[in-house]
Amino acid sequence: MGENIIGRAESALAGGKEGTGEASVLPLLILGARTFAVKVADLVADIPHLRLAGFVENLERERCGQTLEGVPVYWVEEMARLAGSHWAVCALSTTHRSRFIEQVAAYGPRFTTAVHPSARVSARTSVGEGTIICVGAILASHTRVGRHVIINSGAIIGHHTEIGDYATIQPGANIAGACRVGEATYIGIGAVVIDHITIGAHSVVGAGAVVTTDVPDHVLVVGVQARVV
Ligand SMILES: CC(C)(COP(=O)(O)OP(=O)(O)OC[C@H]1O[C@@H](n2cnc3c(N)ncnc32)[C@H](O)[C@@H]1OP(=O)(O)O)[C@@H](O)C(=O)NCCC(=O)NCCS
Repeated sequence: MGENIIGRAESALAGGKEGTGEASVLPLLILGARTFAVKVADLVADIPHLRLAGFVENLERERCGQTLEGVPVYWVEEMARLAGSHWAVCALSTTHRSRFIEQVAAYGPRFTTAVHPSARVSARTSVGEGTIICVGAILASHTRVGRHVIINSGAIIGHHTEIGDYATIQPGANIAGACRVGEATYIGIGAVVIDHITIGAHSVVGAGAVVTTDVPDHVLVVGVQARVV
């Protein structure tokens, strides 16, 4: 994890349209077609270098052939012809979104980041490909955010912290400095994680929990102070 895809997307932009000198706008497909995907479409509308080109569905084929937010909903197999010309992010807030990403990745699209202009991401922090950073989030310096992470509205991530691939940090969660959050772990809305805490992979921290001690893999913790339930 940790490749700074923001830098890679900006390099692509600097290239512009071949021979024209114009800045590029990246056509973007959002994986998912439920309410969080629509929220991400709203976020993308505020990002000048991204243009929403469609949603991608992999569960209910009957949802395809219609439009959503004014753009097509494509069946996942259509990625075979779309992958070469589009960029993608996955907007499923489920902890299982890696399955959809791996299914789509087999077609070879490029994943980009979607970082809302109101978010503040330190220039000394890296953000992996496919990661979505919503309105008002703050990422302090020397932090590494993995691939396909969702940092939801108003979440705060402290300095020297590591957020694993496929993690989900829900609105207003506050993760202090020098923490580690494992792969595919879900931090619920408004949770607080004090500094120097390690939270394992595939765990869930309930809404409003206050985490004061390390959390192992594959557990659910809730409460103040957070306990395994
Ligand atoms: C912790 C959580 C994952 C548990 O979900 P669940 O397994 O479906 O649990 P249930 O809703 O069946 O609740 C089970 C019990 O835990 C309690 N509980 C649920 N969430 C809790 C929380 N965050 N803190 C403390 N207790 C909680 C319930 O009141 C219930 O108690 P009871 O058995 O005494 O009635 C979920 O409640 C949660 O906090 N999700 C985060 C949601 C979020 O961040 N949403 C953001 C959307 S943008």
